[in-house]
Amino acid sequence: MAKIITIAHQKGGVGKSTLALNLATCFQEQLNVALLDIDLQGSISDLREDFPSLHIITEDRFEQIQKLEYDLIIIDTPPYLSSRLPELFLMSDYVLVPTKAGFFDVMAIRSTLHLIEEAKRKHKELEAGIVLNMIKHRSGITGEVQELLASFNTPVLKTMIHDRVSFARSPLTGGVLASEDSKAIDEITSLAEEIVDTISNT
Ligand SMILES: Nc1ncnc2c1ncn2[C@@H]1O[C@H](COP(=O)(O)OP(=O)(O)O)[C@@H](O)[C@H]1O
Ligand SMILES: [Mg+2]
Repeated sequence: MAKIITIAHQKGGVGKSTLALNLATCFQEQLNVALLDIDLQGSISDLREDFPSLHIITEDRFEQIQKLEYDLIIIDTPPYLSSRLPELFLMSDYVLVPTKAGFFDVMAIRSTLHLIEEAKRKHKELEAGIVLNMIKHRSGITGEVQELLASFNTPVLKTMIHDRVSFARSPLTGGVLASEDSKAIDEITSLAEEIVDTISNT
């Protein structure tokens, strides 16, 4: 059965679609991957022509998803899907929660983390991680934010994704792997590895 990685945060603009797309192109080098876009505003599905080798699928009957014959399915979720996230988390092997590193940004992930905790009560193998995204090169992570992150049950991944033009442009350029930005390539590769290490132990 396909492993399922869901990228979720009930807020928009945190990099869910950007990371979903780049992780999918990364995993695709070794696995039979599908990227599931359940955003009705369909940002990723519009990119089919730019990512000809990527299986971009749309399906909102979640019970059908598990039957699909892929090694890995990455699910990009839209902000308005909140009411269906619990159902989606119960099907997932891993939930990735991207956030920017500001104090209020990190405060805003608490409701998503709460849904993950609830799902874990029924689905003990569910793993999750927070990934800091769009880190500004000079500012880094403040002490207050580190403290707040440390107070959560969901771990913060070692890999941090910086604010890079190549990520912003990646939907138009076939993903950062196809770019010449070696730092962006290192970041997305290391994020993919960290997630795989976690789910392959389950
Ligand atoms: N690491 C990054 N560096 C630079 N820009 C980024 C990065 N991640 C996301 N962005 C930009 O931030 C905006 C929101 O990203 P998006 O993936 O659409 O978020 P979401 O799917 O959570 O709404 C987009 O303009 C995207 O290009
Ligand atoms: Mg999106």
